[in-house]
Amino acid sequence: MYRVLFVCLGNICRSPMAEAVFRERVARAGLSGAIEIDSAGTGDWHLGKPPHEGTRRILDAQGISYEGMLARGVRPEDGERFDLLVAMDESNVKAIREALGAKTRAEVVRFLSFVPDARLTDVPDPYYTGDFEETYALISEASDRLLAHLLETGKVTAAAR
Ligand code: 4NP
Repeated sequence: MYRVLFVCLGNICRSPMAEAVFRERVARAGLSGAIEIDSAGTGDWHLGKPPHEGTRRILDAQGISYEGMLARGVRPEDGERFDLLVAMDESNVKAIREALGAKTRAEVVRFLSFVPDARLTDVPDPYYTGDFEETYALISEASDRLLAHLLETGKVTAAAR
């Protein structure tokens, strides 16, 4: 089992969107049994809350489930449990490192590092921009690229199903 944790600030806009979209792509590829997917936030304002209305609206429009998803905070154990921590922006990377300390097994990456041809390096925060479509387009592309990367590098194999 390969374990991926998406991380943003509030865990109500970007990382739940990434969790839901990536889970759907993984399911479509028949790899649900090979990859565990979760999301968390580095801030604690929205713990226990469902995804933001804007995130829910765009996932509904795409027919992507977010059932049962509730915001939680990043925990030190996440650095041991997960293989890959996928940060939405550079400030999340810094906050993850602070939350986990030195002792962590997980690789920490920016989500858009999988989309080197994107015109941005950080996934814009729709909590502030209001533009959930722009964020969805980037998350959708990055999700496809992340899955391709995991298969190409052999971190996940179709046989693991
Ligand atoms: P997210 O967006 O990190 O994409 O979930 C935010 C949600 C809430 C806040 C900041 C960002 N907030 O400050 O409450």
